[in-house]
Amino acid sequence: MKVICTEKSQILATSLARALKIPVVEVKYSRFPDGEQYLIAGELDDETIIIGSVVDNDSLVQLTLLIDACDSSSNRLVLPYMGYARQDKRFQKGEPISARAVAQVFSRGVKEVITVNIHEKGVLSYFGVPARNISLSPDIGEYIKTLNLKNPLILAPDEGAHAFAEQVANVGGWDCDYLEKTRLSGVEVKMAPKQLCAASRSVIIVDDIISTGGTIATAATMLYQQGADEVFAACVHGVLTNGAYVHLMAAGVRDVICSDTIERGCSKISAARQIADIIKMTG
Ligand code: R5P
Repeated sequence: MKVICTEKSQILATSLARALKIPVVEVKYSRFPDGEQYLIAGELDDETIIIGSVVDNDSLVQLTLLIDACDSSSNRLVLPYMGYARQDKRFQKGEPISARAVAQVFSRGVKEVITVNIHEKGVLSYFGVPARNISLSPDIGEYIKTLNLKNPLILAPDEGAHAFAEQVANVGGWDCDYLEKTRLSGVEVKMAPKQLCAASRSVIIVDDIISTGGTIATAATMLYQQGADEVFAACVHGVLTNGAYVHLMAAGVRDVICSDTIERGCSKISAARQIADIIKMTG
């Protein structure tokens, strides 16, 4: 068994290969003069774990080409971050179900798919092969333990993310709540924990994705107004678009904690251990 990866998942692929004690296949990537992507894989095995996050259109094409290069019936695909997964329904007539379109492309040439904190579990059914999802909530919890915070409060940015926040909080037996939005006027909105009080506490806002950071930056500002001592932001997928990291820092966020499903300077948590475990378990 060997691991092979796209350029956007080199670090996670190497950590995974180490955890499984197997080699990583080298791939040479280049472009044709017209900009089209080309790649050539080194020596492949009969059984390959293909790993690649879809963080943009180039990585989507590169992963599609890589799957095709691994021409064997025993390929497993790991999609640490699946771009396009958030358009998982036809919200308006005439729209594509982008998650389904992408899932169908990736199902050709692999026998199984593993995703990490997919935005909606329903997306798994769009793959034409068995697909399973792992959650890094325990790993985020373990990382929070290393911060040695006194009596931290784990907060979800909304009710939808509350279950995820609770899984994180369970790791340390910490308090958990979610932020409730109250509209004060046409332009003013208040965000505060639904039941608990943030005053004099270390607060960690946890979510599956930080995209523009807008939700957490607004929440952090309000939590400081409510007397919070310090506010951290933690997520699985650090999309961090539109200057999100700087925006969060400007809002007083102490630190941004992400995993390596998207490889960033603030990727402090690795998905490798859990991916390795599921691969070992399924043989
Ligand atoms: C939304 O459904 C996701 O779970 C995140 O809450 C969202 O992507 C965060 O967006 P932003 O960082 O742009 O506020």
